[in-house]
Amino acid sequence: MEIKTDVLIIGSGIAGLFSAIKISSFADVILVTKKEKNESNTNYAQGGIAAVISGDDSFDKHINDTIVAGAGLCNEEEVKSLVEDGPGCINDLIELGTHFTLEEEKLHLLKEGGHSKNRIVHAHDLTGKEIERALIDKISTIPGIRIMENCFAIDLITEHNLKNQKNAESTPRHCWGAYVQNSKLNRVIKIISKVTILATGGLGQVYLHTTNPAIATGDGVAMAYRAGAKVGNLEFIQFHPTSLYHSGPVTDRHSFLISEAVRGFGGILLNSSGEAFMQKYDTRKELAPRDIVARAIDNELKKRGDDFVLLDITHKNGEEIKTHFPNIYAKCRGLNIDITAQPIPVVPAAHYSCGGIVVDHFAKTSLKGLFAIGEVAMTGVHGANRLASNSLLEAVVYAKRVCEYLKLNLVKTEQTKHIIPDWDDSGTLTSDEKVLISHSQKELKQLMWDYVGIVRSDLRLNFAGRRVNNLYTEVEEFYKKTKIFDSLLELRDMITCASLIIKSAEMRKESRGLHFTTDYPDYLRSPKDTILQNTFHRS
Ligand code: FAD
Ligand code: SIN
Repeated sequence: MEIKTDVLIIGSGIAGLFSAIKISSFADVILVTKKEKNESNTNYAQGGIAAVISGDDSFDKHINDTIVAGAGLCNEEEVKSLVEDGPGCINDLIELGTHFTLEEEKLHLLKEGGHSKNRIVHAHDLTGKEIERALIDKISTIPGIRIMENCFAIDLITEHNLKNQKNAESTPRHCWGAYVQNSKLNRVIKIISKVTILATGGLGQVYLHTTNPAIATGDGVAMAYRAGAKVGNLEFIQFHPTSLYHSGPVTDRHSFLISEAVRGFGGILLNSSGEAFMQKYDTRKELAPRDIVARAIDNELKKRGDDFVLLDITHKNGEEIKTHFPNIYAKCRGLNIDITAQPIPVVPAAHYSCGGIVVDHFAKTSLKGLFAIGEVAMTGVHGANRLASNSLLEAVVYAKRVCEYLKLNLVKTEQTKHIIPDWDDSGTLTSDEKVLISHSQKELKQLMWDYVGIVRSDLRLNFAGRRVNNLYTEVEEFYKKTKIFDSLLELRDMITCASLIIKSAEMRKESRGLHFTTDYPDYLRSPKDTILQNTFHRS
């Protein structure tokens, strides 16, 4: 089956939905998403969106905070334009129907780690859910956008897919759409587009403990890499310092987040002796950037052999806690923890990928016709460590820029004249060996957690690299013989991402931001981005 459209968007988080709305004013849009349309990292975002709103704040202060957190690797021009575009993007979200929390009819602003001012615009502690709701409601009123749920993008269509393989090595390479598996109908659809936008979010599921929901399996980075696009800085995985620790089963494969805004509100971290330990690590204590707080907690846990530290907010007014954090209060209450009277057990968990598909100011990737926005992209604004609440901001800013770019340039773009072959799964069989997938997935997540986590070393990375190579070989063999299904596709993409994270980490012979290795504990004088590109034929 073949469908043609002007613009194919892959992913229905803030980046995909926002760009779909804006682009629909001048082009036809198909948006595919692998589960239900509201299932995304965005839907779980708590703290909010950073923007300069208050009179005592300034662009310079937000720019400076972002660059300090980014530990010497931010692209300063991109940071400047990100911050300057921030207030306009908040207005756009409000115009599209988002209800942010107000105080005396003004936006209420929270504070988070690394921010010198209160500048986090939020909807209580359910900011992402409110944004997703507003954008989905808006889309339901726009006939020019076709949303296809339960449609899993498998691979981008490029020269590699043409029957005439002479085209495969042509440069620059083009993207002409994607092969998409309709998981309900078990059928692969070929979607041909003038332009394709990857908005597939993060890759936290590569790790055993993560705040990211089950969809975050790094499909966009893996697809883009297989297609030959440049990817970069993938060693910079952000571990959020405070995810809820509890001994019960982890539901839906992810850990519940205890927002950084709880520390911004006055929460104090205690070790098992009841000692507030953060001042030993940084003068900014609980509000130091995330890499520092996560490493401090990791150090306390390893030193003491503990499973968790405590986050104490009991000294604050109970009613205010419930008003600001209704979601966190209710979740903990359900586990018999009353956060107004008891400290919360917390541990770090993989949270965000600062690296991704390399893009320019307009979110253009190194493949013609392919754009990337949101967490899947590497824009340069986060450097070696993202400042809290700059991610939703980045997603909207770059989504808006793609639209501005396409508004001027889409008219000059034609559909490909090449004949794109149908998906070919001849010779493959339906498998009843799904245990191979679930087992390999567990193995991958455990080894990434143990060897490629908060603290790394050459030896650990080397062990991890060899094991991931074995998994890659086994799963590729299985993939070639088997009729595809979602968990196989996800595992394949997770393995590719794991391998890219390890390779990038091995390339970085220093400790910087989120990448800390015991073999190179210092900074290099002239840091560089770690860029990887697949120059081989795609299988
Ligand atoms: P997502 O929102 O993750 O959306 C990706 C979409 O792509 C999903 O719909 C997914 O199903 C779809 N998709 C993926 N692969 C495929 C495929 N192969 N085929 C089809 N569809 C696919 N950031 C902040 O700035 N502030 C916060 O307060 C904040 N809190 C957070 C709290 C939590 C618990 C988490 C997990 C993250 C938080 N973040 C926060 C980070 C932020 O939420 C994400 O970085 C951001 O929402 C990413 O948006 P996105 O549109 O790029 O991707
Ligand atoms: C949080 O609420 O702590 C998450 C904020 C973020 O990831 O930016």
